[in-house]
Amino acid sequence: LSSTDVELAPIAEGQAITVMWRGKPVFVRHRTAKEIQEARSVNVGELRDPAPDSARVKPGKDQWLIVIGVCTHLGCVPLGQKPTDPRGDYDGWFCPCHGSHYDTAGRVRRGPAPLNLALPTYAFTSDTRVRIG
Ligand code: FES
Repeated sequence: LSSTDVELAPIAEGQAITVMWRGKPVFVRHRTAKEIQEARSVNVGELRDPAPDSARVKPGKDQWLIVIGVCTHLGCVPLGQKPTDPRGDYDGWFCPCHGSHYDTAGRVRRGPAPLNLALPTYAFTSDTRVRIG
């Protein structure tokens, strides 16, 4: 499948789902106001892979973070999707393979990963629907 449609309405604030796109997991996370605030309050210049939060989400859709769920170190799937998962020191995702920590914008903050979690190509096709790919 070259594209994947995702219904957003069932994903409550603070929850996340994983969908498959081109054989890879994609994380769709409905961020809380606190998570958005955390992502925005970072000094971008201090990041290993500098990117403002605004470059990680679509304009006016700050609550939806959509990233490819593959660690940029050696390709493990980071934890942080299930409510019971560890989310690392920055409230985003934690890669158990070698200990990379990602923040609430999917940016690498600690550990061996060189880059932020990649962004898939996607577009909102309505207020409650997104097409990945
Ligand atoms: Fe994620 Fe190594 S594969 S830290």
